[in-house]
Amino acid sequence: MSPLRTVLSLSAARPSSIRCDALVLASRSVDGKAELVGELGLPRAVSAAINDTLSALGAGGSAGEVITLSGVAKVSASLVLIAGTGSDSTRPGVSEPDAAERVRRAAGTAARALEGKDRAVFVLGPSTPELIAATGEGALLGAYAFHSFFGVGKNSSAKEPLGSAILTGIKPRAKEGRELIDRLHTVATAVAYARDLVNTPPNALYPESFATSVSQRAPKNVSVEVWDPQRLEAEGCGGIIGVGQGSARGPRMVTMTYAPKGAMASLAFVGKGITFDSGGLCLKPATGMITMKCDMGGAAAVASAVFAIAELGLPIAVTGYLCLAENMTGDLAQRPGDVVTMRGGKTVEIINTDAEGRLVMADGLALASEHQPDAIVDIATLTGACVIALGSRTFGVMGNNDDVIARALSGAAAVGEPAWPLPLPEELRCSMDSPVADIKHTGERAAGAMIAATFLSEFIGPDTSGTTLPWAHLDIAGPAYNDNTAFGYTPKGGTGAGVRTLIEFARGYVS
Ligand code: BES
Ligand code: MN
Ligand code: ZN
Repeated sequence: MSPLRTVLSLSAARPSSIRCDALVLASRSVDGKAELVGELGLPRAVSAAINDTLSALGAGGSAGEVITLSGVAKVSASLVLIAGTGSDSTRPGVSEPDAAERVRRAAGTAARALEGKDRAVFVLGPSTPELIAATGEGALLGAYAFHSFFGVGKNSSAKEPLGSAILTGIKPRAKEGRELIDRLHTVATAVAYARDLVNTPPNALYPESFATSVSQRAPKNVSVEVWDPQRLEAEGCGGIIGVGQGSARGPRMVTMTYAPKGAMASLAFVGKGITFDSGGLCLKPATGMITMKCDMGGAAAVASAVFAIAELGLPIAVTGYLCLAENMTGDLAQRPGDVVTMRGGKTVEIINTDAEGRLVMADGLALASEHQPDAIVDIATLTGACVIALGSRTFGVMGNNDDVIARALSGAAAVGEPAWPLPLPEELRCSMDSPVADIKHTGERAAGAMIAATFLSEFIGPDTSGTTLPWAHLDIAGPAYNDNTAFGYTPKGGTGAGVRTLIEFARGYVS
């Protein structure tokens, strides 16, 4: 079954005349009061009446607000939902979403409020291609619901997402209309697949079942290769073996390749895929372990993005590396003090078994480097320190190359994913000096996100002329999982963080 259960379509009819469950409109906040945004294409009497009602209700138009009206005259829909987009004015020093992202979030908020409904029309702004696309994307992303593990029968609490979202303002049969719908379905399906993988309980999603899911889902133009523990051993992937050896469910490395003819660039995406992070022998406290099924969010983002890039047919070659292991405490579990040999031969002294992500990623990055891509991007729920630094909605961007870092940041900005750069100052490296191995895998406690990235940087290989390959690292420990209530188009649980950024990053190489 497709992870996306809401269908998007276009209609040439006037929004107010479409018979459906709801007509979704947008308001903005003007001096603290809600007012419909302009150019929604409604009959003047309808928008005037709605504005009067908003005013009588004392609506504010802030982001996250949804006002529901019924029986609105001259509107065929049973309900009218007015989703707030906030104020147009910007506050100095505050990073605020751009116009498209405000619309995307408002559409998502409305789509969540329409759970269980059949059909709704979304008109959230003037009919520009950008805002229509943002509306459709927000509606599809917001409508998502994970349902696989509810019991069956009449006691089931399974919820059905909004069945169908309708957009207006683009001719349904025009080429641009069909392309828009295809693109939005592809991207939203990718995000939903990443969310499904993260939401799947860790007794059902473990390295082998993750690899199976990816193999089965792969479109024809993506080839998938899976290395089992024996092969990992033979290939010298000591980081993944070491982390995985405490679990009865062995680790895997999944390589996914999309190599279209005439590709304009070749990229490598490497994802952290710890299907459950108990911390290993350096066990996490119970409260810190609860959400640790999300620790494969990076690998989920890579798998989803590679599928989407291939389905979109972008002229960019992409190889995805999923570094899959379960970090457990079995009697073969790796110990602090162990020394492991990574892919490529570097030796690492194990300090804290809860810093497992950088170990599996080291093998993935070394392997990716061997194929000499034009750029490497890795994505990982790597450090709690990044959440302390940037909060739970913004991911950290680090790396060794200003161009790739800038491309990652601008990709994120273009799709509305908050991201922020962190530096890798050279003085961090010496705290990882080891008396028995090439490097320790943890260092001083300060700047934990940057220490982890500095460790990763050691495993980026050289190009043919001996220069270190260009690389960026996305630490999504904060945004990968939403432990709080849903907001905008972001549901509770798995968020699909990074999927759209990676797709956009690849698109950035199309010239
Ligand atoms: N998976 C965690 C990081 C994490 C924390 C992800 C919170 C999502 C939410 C990672 O493996 C970890 O445990 N990191 C340690 C590193 C430390 C032992 C150096 C951390 O951040 O505390
Ligand atoms: Mn850990
Ligand atoms: Zn982890």
